[in-house]
Amino acid sequence: MGKTLFDYWRSQCTAPYHFPMTGDQWYQSMYEDVDGDGHPLFSTLIVKCSRTTCQKDGEFTGLIEYGETAFGFDTSGEISSDVHHNVIRILCFDRDKPEVGEQLLHAALDHFGTEQRIYAFFHYFGMTACARHGKLHESSPHVEALLLNNGFTVEHENIYYARILSPKDTADDTISLRWSDLSPGGCREFAALTEGVEVGWGQVHFLPQGDIAYLRWIYVDEKRQHQGLGTAIMRQLFAELYQLGIRRFDTDTALSNTAAQHYYEKTGFANAGITRSYYTK
Ligand SMILES: CC(C)(COP(=O)(O)OP(=O)(O)OC[C@H]1O[C@@H](n2cnc3c(N)ncnc32)[C@H](O)[C@@H]1OP(=O)(O)O)[C@@H](O)C(=O)NCCC(=O)NCCS
Repeated sequence: MGKTLFDYWRSQCTAPYHFPMTGDQWYQSMYEDVDGDGHPLFSTLIVKCSRTTCQKDGEFTGLIEYGETAFGFDTSGEISSDVHHNVIRILCFDRDKPEVGEQLLHAALDHFGTEQRIYAFFHYFGMTACARHGKLHESSPHVEALLLNNGFTVEHENIYYARILSPKDTADDTISLRWSDLSPGGCREFAALTEGVEVGWGQVHFLPQGDIAYLRWIYVDEKRQHQGLGTAIMRQLFAELYQLGIRRFDTDTALSNTAAQHYYEKTGFANAGITRSYYTK
C-alpha cells in the first residue's frame, strides 16, 4: 500500500512542535480542530494535495489546507463571531518541486481572491495536528520563499521553546498553584499564590497525547516582576506537571520579548528556533 496523507504530512512537517500522534488524533486536528474552549476553528476547510501521477497510488508531493475561520479577532484583538479570517494553515511540498508549491498556493489565492487579506500560518488557527503552535518553523525556508514571492510579508516572529521534565524538577515551597477545571479543548488556567496572595497567572494546554503540555501564556504581577517570582512559579509548575504525567513542556514568545527569552532560558527551556506568521497587505 502507498503512503497515506498522514505519512506525507509527517515526513514534511518536522518542526519541533509536530509531536508524535496517532492517525486518529491527526485526522481530528486536521479536519475537526477546536480551540481551547472547544469551539470549531473553521467554518469551511479545503484540503488539496498533489501526487506524482494522477493515479490513486502516486506518491504525494505537496499538501495545502485553507479555509475561512469560524470566528476571528477584531481590531482591538477581541474574539468576535462577526469576524472571519482567510487562513492557509498547512502548506508543504517537496523541496525539489517548487512548481507544486506554486500550484497549491495559487489554488488558495484563487479561492480567496485578491480583495481580502489572506493569512498564512496564523498562530491561533494554524494549531493543527496537536501542535498547538501554528507558525511556520524556520526549517521550511522553501515554504517561506514561496509565500514571500507571492505577496505575503512576515506578520509576527516568535522563538519556540521546549523543556523536558524530569524527577529532578522539585517543587518550590514558596508557591502554590490554584488550577481551574479542564476546558473542553484541554486548557487549564492557574493562579500562583505566595503567602496567600495571587502574584501570577497562566494557561496550560494539555495535548491529547497525554504526556505533552504547552504553556499558552504566563504573567507575573507587574509590580512584582524581576524579583524571582516567575522563576519560582515555573519551578512549581514543572513539579506539578511532572506529577500529572507531563514529560515535555513547550512554549513560545515574541522575538522582541527579550525579557521572556531570558526567563525561559534561565528556567531550562531550549531554544528550538524561529517561527513566523504571514499575511497579504
Ligand atoms: C516574563 C515574566 C513571566 C518573568 O517573571 P519574573 O517574576 O519577572 O521573573 P524572575 O524575576 O524570576 O526573573 C527570571 C529571569 O527573567 C529575566 N527577566 C525578568 N524580568 C526582566 C526584565 N524586566 N528585563 C530583563 N530580563 C528580565 C531575567 O533573565 C531574569 O533572570 P535574572 O534575575 O537572573 O536576570 C514576567 O516578567 C512577566 O510577566 N512579563 C510580562 C508577560 C510576559 O512577557 N510573559 C511571557 C511571554 S507569554
